[in-house]
Amino acid sequence: MIKQGTKSKEFFKRAMAVTPNGVSSNYRFYGEEETVVVADAKGGHIFDHDGNRYIDYRLGWGPVLIGHANEFVNQRVKEAIDHGVSFAGTQKYEVSVCERIIDLCPGVEMVRLANTGTECTMHALRLARGHTGRDLILKFEGSYHGAHDNVMWSTQGAPLDQVGNRRRPTPYKNSLGVPKVIEDLIITCPWNDEEVLSEILAERGEEIAAIIVEPILGNSNGLLPAEGYHQFLRKICDEYGIVLIFDEVKTGFRIAPGGAREFFGVTPDISTYAKAMGNGYPVAAFGGKKEIMMKLGYGGVFQGGTYTGNVVSTAAADATLELIQSGEVFSKINKHGLMLQAGIKEICARHSIPVVINGAPGMFGVCFADEAPKDWRELKTKPNWGLSTAVYQHMIHNGVMPEGGGVEPFFICMEHTDADAEETLVRFEEGIVKAKG
Ligand SMILES: Cc1ncc(COP(=O)(O)O)c(C=O)c1O
Repeated sequence: MIKQGTKSKEFFKRAMAVTPNGVSSNYRFYGEEETVVVADAKGGHIFDHDGNRYIDYRLGWGPVLIGHANEFVNQRVKEAIDHGVSFAGTQKYEVSVCERIIDLCPGVEMVRLANTGTECTMHALRLARGHTGRDLILKFEGSYHGAHDNVMWSTQGAPLDQVGNRRRPTPYKNSLGVPKVIEDLIITCPWNDEEVLSEILAERGEEIAAIIVEPILGNSNGLLPAEGYHQFLRKICDEYGIVLIFDEVKTGFRIAPGGAREFFGVTPDISTYAKAMGNGYPVAAFGGKKEIMMKLGYGGVFQGGTYTGNVVSTAAADATLELIQSGEVFSKINKHGLMLQAGIKEICARHSIPVVINGAPGMFGVCFADEAPKDWRELKTKPNWGLSTAVYQHMIHNGVMPEGGGVEPFFICMEHTDADAEETLVRFEEGIVKAKG
């Protein structure tokens, strides 16, 4: 959603010629002349090929927790790679990363490493199926759990008129190529609705292997669970013998050092982690109860990968998690997140614009609405998305980069500064004034 300059345009033509839409992930394409072409990055800033600087609130869709090109993390990687990067065996960084995850995340007893969030949710779901001997998976509307066939259903982009009645939702297939037969294995449900979920489980609860949930809807503006909702999920999963999976690919190591387990005080059976655990390096993990995780040991559930637990990614995660354990990361992230939230609320109040803030300080969404949408269905219809787009377009064209449509949350890193927050609020207010005309 930027306006590419001459050099960025030239470069992006090269990209368009060799890779579909010039990007390595569909979501990154904003248009032939609107897609960001990054030339450099440092701390909380990115720079394009024309020398424009942006305060970066995308942070690569959330993984950059400390800051771009952080020296402490990069130094750990540099030291590690001179001793080899891939082995048919176990190496010291992977063990250290598992130990740090177990130390940080309440109730995680064992961990397996992976490279991406997609891999983790795929393995976690297989593990749940292997553990329970059941095939059905229940996911919530508006959640994204990665790119594999089992979870590409009723994600954020699904059209409202094709997801069925609220009380009888039908899964919407978000990609061609996902086999139709998989629909029989997927149940979708509106978020935050105890009644509908209870009805579904009363009918099919004993066939369901797992309920997979984003503890905060990080792909739908950071919508929060209603008070006690996760406690309810825990209870109802226990009642039906269902494995509760917290997909913490966005919330893990971002909303609190111990992620959603710590933030909400609820212990799922398995959690999946990725993004923030490696400050941008491709590393992921899933972990939980030993009894379930050991099904990967001698229990007959397969997990594997040539690059899982490789030296580059685990060295980066080792340094990132060490910084989190030091206590310094969250005091800074929370300070700047809260500064921005307070500033946004104050500006909106002065201009008589209703606003609600969803999520946590390190990952928050802004909704121009009278009250917080309860779920993805309300998120689609209640907020004034035209206003979000107008305000964010102004900000982006003036060096501050949230997601252009406003559905994705703002992500804050440790290296964002007071000056970044102040500049962001100035641009935000200018955008509001301009949009009001
Ligand atoms: C909650 C959640 N789960 C899973 C994934 C997939 O992770 P990855 O893109 O690393 O495969 C994402 C990606 O945004 C995510 O937000």
